[in-house]
Amino acid sequence: MQVKVVIGTIAFMLTMIILGYAALREPERLEHFTGAREGRTIETGAKIYFDNCATCHGVEGRAEECYDAAGNSITCQGLPLNNYFLVCGDSPERLAQTRFEGTKEQFVERTVAAGRSGTVMPAWSTRYGGPFRDDQVQNVAAFVLNYANEEFCAQEPARFDWPESVDDFLSLETDEFVAQAGDPENGAALYASYGCNSCHGNLDEPGSNQIGPWLGDIEEVGAARVEGQTAQQYVYTSILDPNAFIAPDCAQGPCISPSAMRGDYAFAFSDMPQDMVDLLAYLLEQ
Ligand code: HEC
Ligand code: HEC
Repeated sequence: MQVKVVIGTIAFMLTMIILGYAALREPERLEHFTGAREGRTIETGAKIYFDNCATCHGVEGRAEECYDAAGNSITCQGLPLNNYFLVCGDSPERLAQTRFEGTKEQFVERTVAAGRSGTVMPAWSTRYGGPFRDDQVQNVAAFVLNYANEEFCAQEPARFDWPESVDDFLSLETDEFVAQAGDPENGAALYASYGCNSCHGNLDEPGSNQIGPWLGDIEEVGAARVEGQTAQQYVYTSILDPNAFIAPDCAQGPCISPSAMRGDYAFAFSDMPQDMVDLLAYLLEQ
């Protein structure tokens, strides 16, 4: 009898220890499981990305290296997604820049789902006539946001601190940048290489604009857009912050808000602020 009680007690205690151990391990096991599921989501997303998105956004998501279906190198039409200002931190600057109120997950998922009207970014969700189910949209969005690894996000990339006033900008003399006189010829080349012409057409051909307003008369039109702004100030602000003022008439009717214009030129010109000077010279020389 005594012996049975002792054995029973020991068995009971052992059971409790084993159960307790399992209970303690549960959160760890769950985390492992969630991690594995996240991994699979991103893996599925990666495949979707390379099959559908890399042609425009590039193999590394930097919009630098793009290939067509035959493997020929082509110009990347999309924006960089492997981009500090889009993926790093809780509220990346790109959201504020496009006047988006929500999380970065929502920003990426909604852009992928609905596309960007007025641009070549297609709508991908079946809800908007595209090919993807909701889980496929989520997977590819998770892949894009996964560019935000610790190392990549550890340091904000250096970028140019644009003065608000164009006159201050044009007379800048700092250690990193001294503005030179504008070169309209180089400006004309930049107008094409930055893709302005794909939306705004050629300056000497009225009606050649595809998406945004024609800019051949911007010297005159720009001077009358915003009270107190010269044409030069207006064009400068329009390039750095397209949403600051939405022009009334675009190629296909009234311009939409938020602006269909690329919103990352303030970053794109950071390496080469002189490009801005030359573009202004070209656009306002007419
Ligand atoms: C035909 C070219 C093209 C394809 C294919 C394409 N995109 Fe885009 N995408 C663009 C362009 C152009 C923009 C920028 C639109 C603009 O000017 O606002 C863009 C914008 C985006 C943005 C918003 C970036 C930002 O900073 O505002 C995300 C996110 C995005 N694309 C994800 C994707 C994903 C994911 C896929 C694949 C499922 C994809 N894109 C396929 C052309 C493309
Ligand atoms: C994806 C298409 C697209 C690209 C690329 C683009 N823009 Fe725009 N742009 C627009 C649209 C749409 C508007 C009108 C909505 C608005 O005011 O933001 C606009 C407006 C403007 C305006 C104001 C025009 C007016 O009549 O008030 C200027 C100036 C301008 N863009 C300059 C540029 C320059 C310079 C570039 C190249 C560095 C460029 N844009 C690239 C689409 C584009």
